[in-house]
Amino acid sequence: MIHWSLIVSFMGVLVAALGAYCGWFLFPNMVDKKVEESVIIADGSEQYKRFVQLPQPLTFKVYIFNVTNAQRIQQGAIPIVEEIGPYVYRQYRRKKVKHFSRDGSKISYVQDQHFEFDEEASAPYTQSDRIVVLNMHMNAFLQVFEREITDIFQGFANRLNHRLNRTPGVRVLKRLMDRIRGKLGFDHR
Ligand SMILES: *[C@@H]1O[C@H](CO)[C@@H](O)[C@H](O)[C@H]1NC(C)=O
Repeated sequence: MIHWSLIVSFMGVLVAALGAYCGWFLFPNMVDKKVEESVIIADGSEQYKRFVQLPQPLTFKVYIFNVTNAQRIQQGAIPIVEEIGPYVYRQYRRKKVKHFSRDGSKISYVQDQHFEFDEEASAPYTQSDRIVVLNMHMNAFLQVFEREITDIFQGFANRLNHRLNRTPGVRVLKRLMDRIRGKLGFDHR
């Protein structure tokens, strides 16, 4: 009887030791190795194929602000815009690998991407829709231009003011006018 229980407990210890070895040492190492294998981009690996070309295209959605009162804007109205979309595109990416560094830690590549219009997902929008957008470049140019012009005139006006202030008589007149204006402003409140 004692004999049997000894064997059983010995086996118990053995199994525990084996479990500990597997749990703390063998399996983690195997998992690490598997993860490493599947993540590293080495020539010919699964990850490498995925890196070169995505297995499925990405969805690329475009929303555009359509100006609905273009005619009015020409006459100085504030633009009214309406968000339209999505226009859905499938984006395909393909990398051309140029070079692996010698130790395999760096990779250089160029990427081609192309977009295909997805008519089904974009409905009711189509690629031949009429859309009116603000000309951003022109707008930016006009804004800068306007600021510059204002600065130039401001400078000119300041200089004129300066000159006038130094002309006798004008100063008295201006002060009088300022006072009248101040009084009016005061009365208004
Ligand atoms: C965009 O706005 C214009 C008017 O400026 C209109 O004719 C056109 O139908 C609009 N486009 C869409 C897709 O709604």
